[in-house]
Amino acid sequence: MKITVVGTGYVGLVTGACFSEVGHEVLCVDNNEQKVAMLNRLEMPIYEDGLEAMVRKNVEEGRLRFTSCIKEGTEFSEVIFVAVGTPPGRSGEANLSYVEQVGREVAEHMTSYHLLVEKSTVPVNTSEQLKRTMTKYLRADIDFDVASNPEFLREGRAIPDALNPSRVVVGVESKRALLLLQEVYKPIMERSGCRLLEMDIASAELTKHASNSFLAMKISYINAVSRICELTGANVEKVAEGMGLDPRIGPEFLRAGVGYGGSCFPKDVDAFVHISERLGYSFDLLKDVQKVNREQREHVFSKIKKELWVVENKRIAILGIAFKPGTDDYREAPALYFVNELAEHGATLRLWDPIAAPHFKKEFPQHTYCEDLMECVQDADLVLVMTEWPEIKALDIQALKKAMKSPVMIDGRNVFDPEVLREAGFIYHSVGRL
Ligand code: UDX
Repeated sequence: MKITVVGTGYVGLVTGACFSEVGHEVLCVDNNEQKVAMLNRLEMPIYEDGLEAMVRKNVEEGRLRFTSCIKEGTEFSEVIFVAVGTPPGRSGEANLSYVEQVGREVAEHMTSYHLLVEKSTVPVNTSEQLKRTMTKYLRADIDFDVASNPEFLREGRAIPDALNPSRVVVGVESKRALLLLQEVYKPIMERSGCRLLEMDIASAELTKHASNSFLAMKISYINAVSRICELTGANVEKVAEGMGLDPRIGPEFLRAGVGYGGSCFPKDVDAFVHISERLGYSFDLLKDVQKVNREQREHVFSKIKKELWVVENKRIAILGIAFKPGTDDYREAPALYFVNELAEHGATLRLWDPIAAPHFKKEFPQHTYCEDLMECVQDADLVLVMTEWPEIKALDIQALKKAMKSPVMIDGRNVFDPEVLREAGFIYHSVGRL
């Protein structure tokens, strides 16, 4: 089947590559010509495990191409996936101008029936606006459908998530649209055995915001519980284990830490709060999810201040920049907050991250970056763990202690065992564990 995917960001590129991998013929469109040129040279604009090899293979086998021409994309296939960015606007609501632009441009070039599928995360009822826009820009009375097919992939696991999804949600309002999407997903359903869930468009749009906000809520919940643990001497990991064995709760997303970050949770929770407000419902539960996430960073920062007394001129080693391991993405990463706060307090910063460091360095060149972990912690007054990279867990604790000026560690991701660190002579603080 021929498929066009508009937008070669995280979702678009992975979706396009995976559709070609399962046998479809895919044309990816992006209006950023530089990005298209990069992709045509088989250089990836993002880091994602297995992506480069998959793109290379499918380009070489003739199933995957890239172009900056939306007209070509419209002519290529009657099914067009819209995977352009929906960045947060000034007050947190999703900025839908890229989605609107695709709707307009596709309508202008359409000469026959097309199905436009929203893959980007959009607020509920976006399809209504999209349909109105397309109707206005159509050159003739041509039939079309809009559908919603939200993406649930995680960074770092994007390819396995796309090829083996937990579910495929499709929001449609015509049989024709449903049949087309069933055909698109047939090879993925066959290999993964997952369910294709058919529903109305508004419900499909809502499923995405509701899912991500629920996961963020789970994290904020356990982080709030971690505060009570610290006040009572309980251990949040034991509590999470005890909770997670209840199948109604489940063990996932109950890892207490310095809070969630990334390109999805902060943006999606914000957008969900805004759309709810606009619809006339104040989603106070989610506002508290955001508040707990903000406060968690501040709370961990207060541990640093308490331990150092004076932050100014202290040498601090920050281990991990990415918002989670396995990615070079530091959008909304907790590390960003700490780098800014610590720099403002006059600390000297040394940073280590196996893949996010080069990009981060371009934005914050004033700090010292080390490729070697032991070099990073050399003469440090305090070590701050921000991402649970396996390299950090594998550190030789005695060597670490010897290298530091004073053995103080603030572990924002509960990577280490408090007892082991204290026995080794560290002053050690983590989250929700004494
Ligand atoms: C998330 C959703 O999981 C995915 O379904 C959606 O499509 C996009 O958003 P992603 O942003 O890649 O994916 O990251 P995820 O692995 O979900 O982690 C998000 C953040 O939550 C990270 O900062 C992580 O460190 C944090 N987290 C996660 C916790 O603090 N505790 C947990 O128990 C789990």
